[in-house]
Amino acid sequence: MQSNQIVIVGGGVIGLSAAWRLAAAGHAVRLVDRTPGRGASWVAGGMLAPVTEAWPGEEASLHLGEESLRRWPAFAEALAAEGGDPGLSTAGTVVVAFDRGDADQLAVVAEYLAKVGRAAEWLTSRQLRGVEAGLGSVRGGLLVPGDLGVDNRKLLRSLQVAAARRGVEFVEDNATAIEPGRVRTPAADLDCDVVVLAAGAHSGGLHPKLADAVRPLKGEILRLRARRSSLSPPQRTVRAVVEGRPIYLVPRVDGELVVGATQYEAGFDETVGARGVRELLEGAERVFPSIGEYELVESAAGLRAASVDTLPFIGELEPGIFAATGHHRNGLLMAPVTADAIVASLSGEKPPAEVEAAHPERLEH
Ligand code: GLY
Repeated sequence: MQSNQIVIVGGGVIGLSAAWRLAAAGHAVRLVDRTPGRGASWVAGGMLAPVTEAWPGEEASLHLGEESLRRWPAFAEALAAEGGDPGLSTAGTVVVAFDRGDADQLAVVAEYLAKVGRAAEWLTSRQLRGVEAGLGSVRGGLLVPGDLGVDNRKLLRSLQVAAARRGVEFVEDNATAIEPGRVRTPAADLDCDVVVLAAGAHSGGLHPKLADAVRPLKGEILRLRARRSSLSPPQRTVRAVVEGRPIYLVPRVDGELVVGATQYEAGFDETVGARGVRELLEGAERVFPSIGEYELVESAAGLRAASVDTLPFIGELEPGIFAATGHHRNGLLMAPVTADAIVASLSGEKPPAEVEAAHPERLEH
């Protein structure tokens, strides 16, 4: 196996996962980020649900997402042993339908799940209330038991601990420029064999090939907590489309409920807007009316690394620079398969076949 000096730019879920796995594979790794473990990964809902999270036209990323979902249980188990429990949930997803149109859409989702060998069950309104008591006035819904979820903040802490234990050196600064085998920060030039560009929404500004390919896509979320007198949050992730806007409610084991997410083109603006909060609350109350009584604990915004074709960029941009960015709405989901692909590629081995479609060479065609 080759052993390389690697500098990773970006300490979100992708950069941290890559750092941990690369160091475990025997590479010497430095990770550059002023605030590792923050950014979009800190704001994420944590759904690991490739099919129900896909938007129309995103079929190309479904295969990659499904492959990464298969890798999640082993990834989480290894991480729990080295960095602490990342809070993997196996409770599954419920996607609710309010009307006939929603139900027809869910029939298409169920068909796709069956095609890829995944279980899904249509439940009537009454059956649905048997599994999630607090749902609003829904027509029915699809129960998808194989979807997973992860506590994004526990995951990020765990990855930082595991990476540090494996000898990753954290450089708490911002990268201002990269070139083959070198990362510049205001304080130093960091030389290496390979730069891994995992700077999320900021990646487009760090390499000319990504300038028009990766852009920020703002998302706002809320965190709520049930009061002692109110109904407990749902046990599973609950998804719906309310007035044309997709919404998700993701429960955490500590009793918090994450409600997300808006989706706007707003450049690098990371402020939370009143309209976003209103839309999320209105949507969430329609799905799960008791939310109106909950305590609002936090509102936050993050910048997804949107990719021009919704597929990430995983592969060599040029000799000495490897891309791992542009994961769009799927950073947490795709972390294991991305990390495995980076380790294989930088160790002289063959990356997983499913990652081929995500190679940045597609930008040249
Ligand atoms: N994957 C959740 C989101 O992007 O909002």
